[in-house]
Amino acid sequence: MSVAIQRLFPTHIAQGRLADARALNRELTRDIEGFMAEDRAGQAWSRRHYRGGYTSYASLDDMNRRAPSCEQLEILLRPHVSAYARALGWRLAGRRLRMTTCWMNVMPRHTYHTLHLHPHSVISGTYYVSTPPGCVPLRLEDPRMAFYMHAPPRTGKRVDGHYVDIKARAGAFVLFESWLRHEVPPNRSTRPRISVSFNYGLE
Ligand code: NI
Repeated sequence: MSVAIQRLFPTHIAQGRLADARALNRELTRDIEGFMAEDRAGQAWSRRHYRGGYTSYASLDDMNRRAPSCEQLEILLRPHVSAYARALGWRLAGRRLRMTTCWMNVMPRHTYHTLHLHPHSVISGTYYVSTPPGCVPLRLEDPRMAFYMHAPPRTGKRVDGHYVDIKARAGAFVLFESWLRHEVPPNRSTRPRISVSFNYGLE
């Protein structure tokens, strides 16, 4: 006697690398250092909510229209985002995906970002600019976490565990649906982990 096991309702994650990332990352680093030095509102917000680090999330979240390097990043990501939307099987019915927000993140040692999701968006993601040895991954949470109730704990890390780590690699990007909760654990690299994050909406 045999039984058929189906895996239903999978969660789709897209990962890839950009061509010519080295040149892009040089430009991004220069822009990020410039904004980090001048963005007083972002510095103040980061002191309270992003301890030890800098993020322009709450101050300058239109970097794809403000910094030429981020504008270039948006252009390079476009085909990958379209491919991801196709893989999700979305019927867009004449609407199109647009990068609505884009911000920079600089995480020195010990800076972290607690579990969250991205409201008002459909696709979110991160592109990695600098990932020194020892820097921490992006951690994704099983979206069924709230429903497990009396289900016994599971073994295994990648398939049946409740968290999956996506390694941060300079030149690489990760895309996920905006409702998927994620976090960045306290960073462990001695040099800062630098990334650019973004959201897409439908227009
Ligand atoms: Ni996030």
